[in-house]
Amino acid sequence: MPVLVRPDSMERITAPALAEKFIAEQIADIRAQVGDKKVLLALSGGVDSSVVAALLIKAIGRQLVCVHVNHGLLRKGEPEQVIRVFKDEMDANLIYVDAADRFLDKLAGVSDPETKRKIIGNEFIEVFAEEARKLEDIEFLAQGTIWPDILESERGIKAHHNAGGLPDDLKFELVEPVRILFKDEVRIVGKALGLPDNMVFRQPFPGPGLGVRCLGAITRDRLEAVRESDAILREEFAGAGLAGKVWQYFTIVPDFKSVGIKDGRRCDEWPVILRAVNTRDAMTATVENVPFDLLQRITDRITHEVRGVNRVLYDLTPKPTGTIEWE
Ligand code: XMP
Repeated sequence: MPVLVRPDSMERITAPALAEKFIAEQIADIRAQVGDKKVLLALSGGVDSSVVAALLIKAIGRQLVCVHVNHGLLRKGEPEQVIRVFKDEMDANLIYVDAADRFLDKLAGVSDPETKRKIIGNEFIEVFAEEARKLEDIEFLAQGTIWPDILESERGIKAHHNAGGLPDDLKFELVEPVRILFKDEVRIVGKALGLPDNMVFRQPFPGPGLGVRCLGAITRDRLEAVRESDAILREEFAGAGLAGKVWQYFTIVPDFKSVGIKDGRRCDEWPVILRAVNTRDAMTATVENVPFDLLQRITDRITHEVRGVNRVLYDLTPKPTGTIEWE
């Protein structure tokens, strides 16, 4: 059974110099563990997997094979950023898999939130396993497991979401270089590794992605409305200096329409719901007091720039009673 304490020698990483020391130690450990063998990593573009990728690239370069699965439920610009940062700037050995059609076909007509989550999770493992089987001589699997993941699985709060899941024919030794770090430490290490701020300090984003914000059965047109409205919200929050201040902010598109007017004509279109919340641990949350003129500006942009949308609503509900996501 793993011990529920970090090693005694482990100083909390609070500054760049401590991050540099950690990076140097990990590079030595990774090289000792891996030798000249190849390592596989599912690179989502989230903080943890991105930091692991950057660390491994520093340690073993192109012996690391990154697989970025685009499930079609990522935010606008995310797959492009993964390719730019890792393939173009860090010369990573990166396999990009555009699996959007596969995921969306499997999700067609499925409206139950838990079933949607299951389909997305299973399909992800399926796609990743297919890519892994095409590769030869891979002996290691790198994962962005962090200390809270280990604590939560030890306490039975959640199954350790990184561990396993792969079919039996794919057995790898694990490489988990950030497993003793808390999230804030992972971010400091990421910054020291030269990752961009919008990758290192980004807001939480669920694994099933925009799939939980396109309510009911996902359709491509409504998913596009979620993605485009989310991009506008992020752009406007960044412009207003709220991006680093508000804990989480995003848009939701429900699966019903209401009457509106566009160009003098009646239109039946979807509403977009805005959510912007603050919290420490996501167990409870308060609603951000967004300036009214900013809300009006966002409404104007979304109703004019996003196809199929004729209303914008702001969710005033704290958690509880509302959860942060709608699902
Ligand atoms: P709720 O909606 O339960 O969400 O209030 C609490 C926080 O968890 C995030 N969330 C997820 N994060 N994988 C994740 O890594 C997931 O499947 C997932 N689902 C929800 C949510 O965005 C919020 O920050």
